[in-house]
Amino acid sequence: MQTQLFIGGEWRDGEAGARIAVTDPATGDHIADVASATPADATAACQAAHVAQIVWAATAPRERAEVLRRVWELMMEHQDELAELIVREQGKPMSDARGEISYAAEFFRWNSEEVARIRGTIATAPSGANRIIVHHPPVGVVVIVTPWNFPAAMITRKLAPALGAGNGVVIKPPTETPLTALRIGELLAEAGVPGGLVNITPTNDASAWFDAAVDHRATRMVSFTGSTAVGQKLLKRSADRVLKTVMELGGNAPFIVFADADIDEAVEGAMVAKMRHSAETCTAANRFFVHADVVAEFTAKLAAAMGDVVVGDGHDDGVQCGPLIHDEAVDKIAGLVDEAVAAGATVAVGGGRLDRPGSFYAPTVLANVAPGSPITREEIFGPVAPIITFTDTDEMIEMANDTEMGLIGYVFTRDLARGLAVSERIQAGMIGVNRGAVSDPAAPFGGMKQSGLGREGSTEGIYEFCETQYIATEY
Ligand code: SIN
Repeated sequence: MQTQLFIGGEWRDGEAGARIAVTDPATGDHIADVASATPADATAACQAAHVAQIVWAATAPRERAEVLRRVWELMMEHQDELAELIVREQGKPMSDARGEISYAAEFFRWNSEEVARIRGTIATAPSGANRIIVHHPPVGVVVIVTPWNFPAAMITRKLAPALGAGNGVVIKPPTETPLTALRIGELLAEAGVPGGLVNITPTNDASAWFDAAVDHRATRMVSFTGSTAVGQKLLKRSADRVLKTVMELGGNAPFIVFADADIDEAVEGAMVAKMRHSAETCTAANRFFVHADVVAEFTAKLAAAMGDVVVGDGHDDGVQCGPLIHDEAVDKIAGLVDEAVAAGATVAVGGGRLDRPGSFYAPTVLANVAPGSPITREEIFGPVAPIITFTDTDEMIEMANDTEMGLIGYVFTRDLARGLAVSERIQAGMIGVNRGAVSDPAAPFGGMKQSGLGREGSTEGIYEFCETQYIATEY
């Protein structure tokens, strides 16, 4: 497969000839080198996207839709091969990697269906003097910056609607997982995406690359998924050119279990909400608020389920949780757990690094965690479930909302009226009621507060990549 930059429909080395080393987090082995883009390469990529976008925007929506649908087909035809790349460079178990490819491809199928349905409106002005025509042209060139936890899906969730709406795109995949992105580039070309419309430029120098991409005159939008800290920097830099932005940032999800919940279902939901994709998701349950009447049962059952998780190399049969992305992630989690234990939390299961090569931490459940302690304030991004006991619903909701993050929350109760009422009081863009998985290309993904701006997926996802133009017309 290609390991060069994809610019202007061609594969080429970075201007400075530098390479990025890619490693397998399960073994620490060096598995590939890919080209690294310089600021000049970023400028060339934006220019190529600009030139191609003008033609693409004038292409019939049906034709654009058919190209998107072909990408979906090709990704599914290559599901095993793409999943293998994800396991190699990201480490998640093969079943999760295959799931990620169908999730990622689905953004192309979903948006292929949305392209022909981008609607405008026409109204008569209240004075009766003219018509108000509103329509939605593409924004132009979109800069997309993605994280390593979903090497395919975090690209396609942005790329498919951006292309569907008629934009050109420049992508910076993460240095940890560039291989999946580059392989998707090959499939895009095979599907008939015009040369230059999508440019893929991994880089060792993200900050200089971003400056160059933002400063290109044709760039009109930035779409980013990653931490709130990095998102804030990109927002500030994007403000220099008053760029449109969509930001999908950090989470700190509360997972609430009421006394009337079906505890087995709550544990099952907790395992999905916590452990999906090796617990490295921004949607991961980060703080478990469990009612005092059921906390002993929930803790024991969750600890048993976490203790049974098969941890290992994502290639191995039966593995349910892979390595963390690198040793720094393990160090961060170990620090948070040690700090919580020193402050009085008890370890119900796990609680340490795994003694094997690679970046592994044991699935861990902590009971009696003090509300407000550091582990409840940080996005853990690993297999640790801190449990906080509550008795009063109002107090618990206050604790659940006592964070700058507002991406997602989970509520488990047999009383649906209570589930919905509590959902409405949780300050988060997405809520799972008696469900540990909510992500769906057909639903609006995104956060409140510092968890982000804008929505991805659903019907509104494609409009994020459009402008609104109003034409006052007299006839
Ligand atoms: C993320 O972790 O950023 C996305 C998770 C998802 O799409 O479910």
